[in-house]
Amino acid sequence: MSVADLVSTAEALVAKGKGILAADESAPTIKKRFDSIGVDSTEDNRRFYRELLFTTEGASNFISGVILFDETLRQLAGDGRSLSEVLLSEGIIPGIKVDAGAKDLAGFPGEKVTEGLDGLRDRYAEYRELGARFAKWRAVITIGDAIPTSGCIQANAHALARYAALAQEAGLVPIVEPEVLMDGYHTIERCAEVTTATLDAVYKELAESRVVIEGTLLKPNMILSGKSCSTQAGVQQVAEETIRVLKGSVPAAVPGIVFLSGGQSPEVATAHLNAMNAIGGVPWELSFSFGRALQETTLKAWGGNPSNLDNAQQAFYHRAKCNGAARFGDYSDKMENTEVNSEVRG
Ligand code: 13P
Repeated sequence: MSVADLVSTAEALVAKGKGILAADESAPTIKKRFDSIGVDSTEDNRRFYRELLFTTEGASNFISGVILFDETLRQLAGDGRSLSEVLLSEGIIPGIKVDAGAKDLAGFPGEKVTEGLDGLRDRYAEYRELGARFAKWRAVITIGDAIPTSGCIQANAHALARYAALAQEAGLVPIVEPEVLMDGYHTIERCAEVTTATLDAVYKELAESRVVIEGTLLKPNMILSGKSCSTQAGVQQVAEETIRVLKGSVPAAVPGIVFLSGGQSPEVATAHLNAMNAIGGVPWELSFSFGRALQETTLKAWGGNPSNLDNAQQAFYHRAKCNGAARFGDYSDKMENTEVNSEVRG
């Protein structure tokens, strides 16, 4: 794949009004999600649930790409096509999570480094054969007493850069995800400080590794008060702080920023994205790559019962549509008051 192809895939993933569905929960994470609705995490239940998401009529108006887990990229839909073929037939670009998870960083208590670089060149070649056109690697930075250390930020930034360079070599657009967790008592100012240090280290390493910035996307956290902080910043402050931090650290050559939701409620994540797009004046598309914030209501509506398929798909369609509106700054909480069941799809 040429640089031009990488750039056009990256741009298609942040097309106006659209964003990415992160459906790449690893086996332990999808089990946690299914546990919350009392459903066994069997291979068949996982396939059924993900097929439900991918075949939601009209969702492709708001969903440009889906990040898959290894198992899902190999699974077949009920009609015998692969799930990636199903997505492609709807004009949705399939992507793949390639990291092997965040593990304890030796010598740095309480901190993590993401593993998965060994053998990655060969895995990329196979994933491309299977239809993937972009990739995702998530680094995790924790805020706490005397952490993060620069050693942890550096180790994660370096791994992200090596992952991204290998992705582009294989013709896949790397989504670079350095997530500063919202867990903790820290203030929004501390989140801004740590996110700035993290993004600065990431872009320095990407440049050192000769990654073509135009052929990447950034998947950051929003700048939020820690979940347990006694003072919680409001929607407008979050939007302004997030834009300020990104403007200071993210090159204008990045085509798009696709936020993670990170444990925010679906409505709040959408409201934050909406407020940022209403402010505007930035060189990149501001979009979403939500996991929980797109799926929470769908999971509940499904509850593991195949007869709830319609309701579950309507719940997913509704959240996709709200986030699509937030891409233009056109979302309002009035959209939430519409009876989901009465939504007209299309
Ligand atoms: P959340 O939106 O649930 O944070 O998930 C996004 C994701 O892909 C995390 O790696």
